[in-house]
Amino acid sequence: MPLERLNFLGLRNLAALDMRPAPGINLVTGANGSGKTSLLEGVHMLGMARSFRTQKLKHAITHDADAVTLHGRLAGDPPVSLGVRRSRDAAELEIRLDGERGIRVARLAETLPLQLINPDAFRLLEGAPAARREFLDWGVFHVKHEFFEAWRRVRRALKHRNALLRHDRIDLRSMRVWEQELAHWSEQLDLLRSDYMAQFAKTFEATLHELLPLSGLSLRYYRGWDKQRGLLDVLENGRDTDRQMGFTQQGPQRADLRLRIGKRAAVEELSRGQQKLVVSALKLAQGRLLEELTGRTCVYLIDDLAAELDVSHRQIFCHWLERLHCQVFITGVERSALENAWQSETDVAMFHVEHGRLLTE
Ligand SMILES: Nc1ncnc2c1ncn2[C@@H]1O[C@H](COP(=O)(O)OP(=O)(O)OP(=O)(O)O)[C@@H](O)[C@H]1O
Ligand SMILES: [Mg+2]
Repeated sequence: MPLERLNFLGLRNLAALDMRPAPGINLVTGANGSGKTSLLEGVHMLGMARSFRTQKLKHAITHDADAVTLHGRLAGDPPVSLGVRRSRDAAELEIRLDGERGIRVARLAETLPLQLINPDAFRLLEGAPAARREFLDWGVFHVKHEFFEAWRRVRRALKHRNALLRHDRIDLRSMRVWEQELAHWSEQLDLLRSDYMAQFAKTFEATLHELLPLSGLSLRYYRGWDKQRGLLDVLENGRDTDRQMGFTQQGPQRADLRLRIGKRAAVEELSRGQQKLVVSALKLAQGRLLEELTGRTCVYLIDDLAAELDVSHRQIFCHWLERLHCQVFITGVERSALENAWQSETDVAMFHVEHGRLLTE
C-alpha cells in the first residue's frame, strides 16, 4: 500500500510539511542542505520508529520546537493512518495506528515495509555482520509470520544466558533451562532464515544478472554456529570459554550473509562501484520477493542515487524500480540527473525542496 498523504511537523529544518505523494515514483530535488534527506528520514521514522541518521530521535526535532510529529496515510479501502510523535521531554516514542495508541514497533514495521538505500546501505558488504543480519531479517519478518516470536524468544533467552555467564558462581539449573530455550528457538529461527534465503538467492541472482553480470558470485547464509552440530551441544561445550568472554559466542546472533567470488570474499575483489551494484541488487530483490510471496509492496527510500551510481547503471536500477510497482521516494541535487532515467510512459511526480519548504511541481 502506498502512502497517499504525509504530514510532518517539527522535523529538522522542514517547515510544516503536507505532501501528497504519487503511488509510484516521487522525485525530490533541492540544493544541499534544503531538507531532502530529512524528508526521507521522516518517512523512515514513520515506518520504523527510528531514524537512519541518529540514535537519539530528539536530534531530529527542529531546534526551537517541542516535538516532532509525523503522520502518514496509506491508500486502501479503508485507508490506514500511522502516527509517530517524539517530544523533547518524553523518554518514549508515541506510536498510533488508526488512532489506537501504544502500538508496538513491530506492528508499525509490518504496516509500512520500507527499504532504505543510502550511502550507509551501500556499505552493506564491507560493514559488520549486524547490518547484513538486519537485512536478512527484514525479509524473513515480512514473509514469515512465525519469525517475530522466534526472534523475540531467542533474544530473551540469550540475555538471560549472558547474564548467568557473568555471575561468579554458575547456576547450572537456570543455565540449562535457558540453554534449552535458546537452542529450541534458535533452531526455529535458523529454519525460517534458511528457508527464506533459499528463495531469496534465486531472485537476487536474476536481479544482479542485469545490473552486473558477474560469474562465480555466490550468496550463502551462515547460521551462526557449526552446521554439523546442534546448538545445545555447542552451548554446553562452549560454556567455559563463553564464561571467559562474558557472552555467548555462537548462535543465531552471529548469523551472516556471505558473498563470495569463487573462494574469496566478494568485498576483497569488487570495486566500490561494483559493490554498490551488488547491494542495489540485494535491495531490489527483497522488494521483488516480498511482492512475489505476499502480494505486498514496500516503499523505497533512495537518497542521492546520482551520487552513487553512474548514468547507465542508474538507468538499469530505475528500470527495475519501475517494474517493481513499489512506491519510491528518490532524492537528488540535480533534477537532470534523475528525470531522464525513466521510461517515457512512467509517471514521475516531481517535488522540490527549498530551504525546508516542499513545492509540488
Ligand atoms: N534539529 C534540527 N533543527 C533544525 N535544522 C536542522 C536540524 N538538524 C539538521 N538541521 C538542518 O537541516 C538541513 C537539511 O538537512 P538535509 O540533510 O535534509 O539536507 P539535504 O537536502 O539532504 O542536503 P544534501 O543535498 O547536502 O544531502 C541542514 O541544513 C541542517 O543544518
Ligand atoms: Mg541529503
